[in-house]
Amino acid sequence: MKETILVTGGTGFIGSHTTVELQNAGYDVVIVDNLSNSNENVIDGIEKITGIRPAFEKVDLRDFEATEAVFQKYPKIKGIIHFAASKAVGESVEKPLLYYRNNIISLVNLLELMPKYDVKGIIFSSSCTVYGQPTPENLPVTEQAPIQKALSPYGNTKQINEEIIYDYIHSGAPIKSIVLRYFNPIGAHPSAFIGELPLGVPMNLIPFVTQTAIGVRGQLKIFGNDYDTPDGTCIRDYIYVVDLAKAHVCAMARVLNPDIDSDAIEYFNIGTGTGVSTLEVVKAFEKATGVKLNWTFAPRREGDIEKVWGNVDKANKVLGWKADTPLEEVLASAWKWQCALRERGIM
Ligand code: UD1
Repeated sequence: MKETILVTGGTGFIGSHTTVELQNAGYDVVIVDNLSNSNENVIDGIEKITGIRPAFEKVDLRDFEATEAVFQKYPKIKGIIHFAASKAVGESVEKPLLYYRNNIISLVNLLELMPKYDVKGIIFSSSCTVYGQPTPENLPVTEQAPIQKALSPYGNTKQINEEIIYDYIHSGAPIKSIVLRYFNPIGAHPSAFIGELPLGVPMNLIPFVTQTAIGVRGQLKIFGNDYDTPDGTCIRDYIYVVDLAKAHVCAMARVLNPDIDSDAIEYFNIGTGTGVSTLEVVKAFEKATGVKLNWTFAPRREGDIEKVWGNVDKANKVLGWKADTPLEEVLASAWKWQCALRERGIM
């Protein structure tokens, strides 16, 4: 049996898929989530896939005592994967203090408790948003590209949290950390027992695509067709959530391995290394599913980055990990999930 891992935000989209991959790799998982943006029945989905029910504690990580009680109850926790955070860009502009309190205090509480409970490593969910719009010579963007001023409080919390971990480790704290900078996570587990469940009108592309395809939304708007890209639409690096989840398993094995002489804090881009335009996503979705999508071009969305995709050589080499699921298969998984939600009467 491998170590026990605390997965914060484990009932969320990426957290649930990562829990599945950790359990498949033999780890014991304790999930902590305040269910502010997810549902406890996600645990049932995880159990259906793996045959193992992860421990679950409904805890708000802003509450130091409640968080400490988790480490007391599960003294075998050796590593943390910290997903729990508010993540709506627009909401963060309207309610910055909510974002600073939630996203920053939670991390500070966890870091403070790690040495006391002998927790050796923490994987932090960061985002390619820290690079802003890279200059053309910095595309595909590497981990060395300059960090740019965040465009939203949400993005700023990711940058600040990276700095908090750095400062804490450089103060001599007896922990190690791996910061994973994700590109655009999409898709769902092939079983369709877990997936992405946005509340209200989706802001992200793929949930909007699948909801349009099933008739919940009337028409997809492609934001902007006059960008400086081959077809005029924005370019992103869409990574399959299951591939992304597996990157966490590799990162956890590395951070907890005392025989690896790695820096105490390391940064990795987690993407496919390939940029795909919004229009290409729409066409790939139609090809993968056979469903015709109702879409139109619309004005640019404020704050959108024109083009970004990752150089993922470091993760490929050092973590021994690669995202290799073809885009059409990923989009088919998102569609299967949407259809499963319909069958279950959810959407
Ligand atoms: C967004 C966030 C980013 C966050 C990420 C999480 C912004 C500015 N950025 O990234 O900080 O880490 O989500 O997944 O919100 N699109 C359409 N029509 C739609 C929806 C999206 O054309 O209805 C386009 C967007 O213009 C963009 C692409 O699809 O070019 C991807 O959009 P989205 O899924 O929202 O992700 P990001 O904007 O890349």
